[in-house]
Amino acid sequence: MRIDIVSVFPEYFDVLKLSLLGKAQDKGLLSVTAHNLRDWTHDVHHSVDDTPVGGGAGMVMKPEVWAQCLDDVMGLVPVSFDDDGQPVQSRDFRLIGTDDNANDSADDTESVDDSNDSGDVDADSAASTDDSTIADSASTEATTDSPKPILIFPNPSAPLFTQADATELSRADHLVFGCGRYEGIDARVPEYYARQGVEVREYSIGDYVLNGGEVAVSAMIEAIVRLVPGFMGNPESIVEESYTGDPLLEHRQFTKPATWRGIAVDPVLTSGDHGKVDRYRRDEAMERTTRIRPDLVEELDCKAMSKADRKT
Ligand code: ADE
Repeated sequence: MRIDIVSVFPEYFDVLKLSLLGKAQDKGLLSVTAHNLRDWTHDVHHSVDDTPVGGGAGMVMKPEVWAQCLDDVMGLVPVSFDDDGQPVQSRDFRLIGTDDNANDSADDTESVDDSNDSGDVDADSAASTDDSTIADSASTEATTDSPKPILIFPNPSAPLFTQADATELSRADHLVFGCGRYEGIDARVPEYYARQGVEVREYSIGDYVLNGGEVAVSAMIEAIVRLVPGFMGNPESIVEESYTGDPLLEHRQFTKPATWRGIAVDPVLTSGDHGKVDRYRRDEAMERTTRIRPDLVEELDCKAMSKADRKT
């Protein structure tokens, strides 16, 4: 699996080199590249944001910078859409893979401090206008044979990311994550790529607001990648976990000694009777789920009811 991440803080993703994720990269099971969005800016301040159209507090991330970066990362040629929604040659004409790519001059695009962004209202960072780089025609096709990417934006206002999403995405060949900051990315960016035929997803990781998408993307990547075949030393540990298969929370786990600081584990667990142990764990899972996550028990009831309905 190939993963590309775009962020103004690519260093956030250094942690993905640790532990099992690092080993998976060493083994060639996974490649993870974190790109600095500012490498695709053209102005002296490396601006990535601007004031919201229609007014309001905060700053919104600029579509031009995002699209130039994502076009390069996904190997796409820029297009524009006419009034009928048909793709036409974009005025943002750069041919992928030429010297025109701001990423090639990464040395002189040192990241600037976050605080620089608060008053960032520079003129648009116009794309290069070097005529020699005009793409042949408007195209929605990737310039390489690489597998089609799925483009994912973390967004607190999006549907919740679940284990089912992680399972589905673990089968993908190429994932591209775009981490927004401030008030988020101009909403035309996901719309543009969806119109281009790219599969675009937006996910929230919970009903709370983070400072940016980086932590959300790290969480999603970890949940996805550990399901990639060959990632876990013991694949059974995935099967037994909470949220896999039926939606019950997992039973509690204990190790030796059977009594520790006066607290004993249930004697069933040391009885050696596997049937009894399984039943005990299942009952505990049900009790914990009813108490901690009653919504999941409802889900289980609904599934059972619709199954019974189908039989009648
Ligand atoms: N960005 C900020 N908060 C977020 C959340 N809860 N989920 C996904 N992306 C976010």
